[in-house]
Amino acid sequence: MKTSLPKDFLWGGALAAHQFEGGWNKGGKGASVVDVMTAGAHGVAREITETVEADKFYPNHEAIDFYHHYKEDIALFSEMGLNCLRTSIAWTRIFPTGIEEEPNEAGLQFYDDVFDELIKHKIEPIITLSHFEIPLYIAQEYGGFRDKRVVDLFAKFAEVCFTRYQHKVKYWMTFNEINNQMDTNTPLFLWTNSGVTVKPGENAKEVMYTVAHHELLASAKAVAIGKKINPDFEIGCMVSHVPIYPYSCRPADIMAAEDAMRQRFFFADVHCRGAYPNYALKEFEREGYDITITEEDKDILQNGTVDYIGFSYYMSTVVKADITQDNTGNVVNGGLANGVENPYIESSDWGWAIDPTGLRYTMNRLYDRYQLPLFIVENGFGAIDELEEDGKIHDDTRIDYLKKHIDALELAVTYDGVPLIGYTPWGIIDLVSFTTGEMKKRYGMIYVDRDNEGNGSMKRYKKDSFEWYKKVIATNGKKR
Ligand code: BG6
Repeated sequence: MKTSLPKDFLWGGALAAHQFEGGWNKGGKGASVVDVMTAGAHGVAREITETVEADKFYPNHEAIDFYHHYKEDIALFSEMGLNCLRTSIAWTRIFPTGIEEEPNEAGLQFYDDVFDELIKHKIEPIITLSHFEIPLYIAQEYGGFRDKRVVDLFAKFAEVCFTRYQHKVKYWMTFNEINNQMDTNTPLFLWTNSGVTVKPGENAKEVMYTVAHHELLASAKAVAIGKKINPDFEIGCMVSHVPIYPYSCRPADIMAAEDAMRQRFFFADVHCRGAYPNYALKEFEREGYDITITEEDKDILQNGTVDYIGFSYYMSTVVKADITQDNTGNVVNGGLANGVENPYIESSDWGWAIDPTGLRYTMNRLYDRYQLPLFIVENGFGAIDELEEDGKIHDDTRIDYLKKHIDALELAVTYDGVPLIGYTPWGIIDLVSFTTGEMKKRYGMIYVDRDNEGNGSMKRYKKDSFEWYKKVIATNGKKR
């Protein structure tokens, strides 16, 4: 008998405050680490400036100005039939520098307004507490999550959000793609994950593990606080999952892939099991890393394990044991020196490998390892879209990408038996790209008239994928 997706399956879209809200200094908001990032391009890193410089363009400042368009945008999400929307709360709207005693009421009110509008349209808000939005003040004055005091600053921010929105939000996530920073060769990741810059002479991996420890503690503390406020909360982690395949069946390639996969699993291992995995402890010992993990820390980790695994899936990658090359800055393979291209699959214009089967493989690996429900909170296709004269956007390639990934997730659920809470494709409306800061790398099913330089009317247009996804949702995935 053919089974199908559960009746209460959550179909939505995913966004992040800094990439779509705009209003970067409105309503008392402070600057975050992304507010000092300029635009880059494919292969050109975004510049991180000390302050906001008058002659530079910072694409996240205005983004797509959801801040002023939220009613119109939510009406479009509703028309599409979304029953949930994943977004984040900009920490700096609530605590502009991160260290204030009292939260900023205007910032809290903004999210009340947005959540009320969503709920009015029967769209459940799914909320990430920290999606690359650490206050700039904390990054500059505390060195970001290097400083253990930031654990409690984050816990306080979490507590304020949990308390304020406890009757509006059920599903939460602590840190978005917390494992990006495992790639210490690309400064973007430690900066956006943790507000950290590695100083000359420092061992980047040691810095990263110290920061990771603090962030894992912050996450665990938040989970414990949230559960006290509302035991019905579902609080998850959020990891970027890029499965790493061995290049061949040579045992050396298999082991190289296994080693590399540990780097992917490390954060989820601690989030889900509440303790450090042996391979990490051995690494600290072998490399002489000085990571202070107290008995109290161990208790905090043990008492703050997550309820589900939120993850992003865009692509897979490959390692080959006998290759060493400089992949620094190559975001698609995590900077792995033995990372190579997969000869069997194609890639997007930005070099992201298109691999729907990798999603099914990922779901099985994550579920086998942790036995926790999964939530695909990001997946999508970044591409250049053409706005035709008649106002149409024909994005067949995106539809094809999404369709094949839904085929794969359905198999994982109905054939393999993996519990899946929902699916929120990335950038349901066009927004600023995270890695490049471009607008032209579009993911949305709604087009926004805005270009890389910040020109455009901000007018919204429905792409072909809009009607396609509407049908998918209306039939609970049956018609696609
Ligand atoms: C994930 C992030 O890395 O992928 C998002 O959580 C990001 O913030 C998305 O936008 C796609 O990446 P990019 O660089 O194409 O925008």
